[in-house]
Amino acid sequence: MRIIRVKDYQQMSRDAANIISAQVILKPDSVLGLATGSSPIGAYKQLIEWYNKGDLNFEKVRSVNLDEYAGLTADHDQSYHYFMHQNFFDHINIAPQNIHIPDGCAADMEAECARYDATIAALGGIDLQLLGLGVNGHIGFNEPSDVFAKGTHTVKLTDSTRIANQRFFQSLDEVPSGAITMGIFDIIQAQRVLVIASGENKAQAIKKAFFGPVTPQVPASILQFHKDCTLVADEAALSLI
Ligand code: F6R
Repeated sequence: MRIIRVKDYQQMSRDAANIISAQVILKPDSVLGLATGSSPIGAYKQLIEWYNKGDLNFEKVRSVNLDEYAGLTADHDQSYHYFMHQNFFDHINIAPQNIHIPDGCAADMEAECARYDATIAALGGIDLQLLGLGVNGHIGFNEPSDVFAKGTHTVKLTDSTRIANQRFFQSLDEVPSGAITMGIFDIIQAQRVLVIASGENKAQAIKKAFFGPVTPQVPASILQFHKDCTLVADEAALSLI
């Protein structure tokens, strides 16, 4: 476990973008596991900037996103499909056929979960997985639980997660109550994991996840066992350790 302590969100974003771009330069057809939410937006902006300057090429990159809300169509402005296109994919030269995001509207969700795991396997697994950290220690939408979920699965979102994500919706009622997410085993099979966290509201989760016992009640704690996990976090997020 490597911890990179940075001053603020901006520096976190630059460092994360540097690590991602190093991955893409070293292996142009990398499989990037990507996240949505507030944490990666700055890193995506930075990567877009370097792409525009001609320093990065995403032509051969393959991507697999962590998760999607259940019941939101790809064109819904709060869906993770929409988010990824708005904040990243529409601004770089990634090939549309190389983009993979779970379908939260699939008629048969069980089949969709199996299809998504098969997709990850067919790509040869994830080279670098980018993760944000939930205030309750979730990664992807793997919520605190009695067991570590293995593969892609559907989940019922906790109140804490729905409240944390309410800021993107008009009201709490509009926040979907379910999601489809990669499992913990999918995530920890990645060759490298990069966790980013900024702000005081992540301090408790960081303390529990990286300095507490490894338990499915704090899903991110499993990352303590990963052979190549880097946490880039700002001073506020690291204030309790
Ligand atoms: C997003 C995801 C979530 C977020 C986490 C932190 O694809 O899987 O686990 O990474 O909820 O969200 P932010 O970055 O908005 O604080």
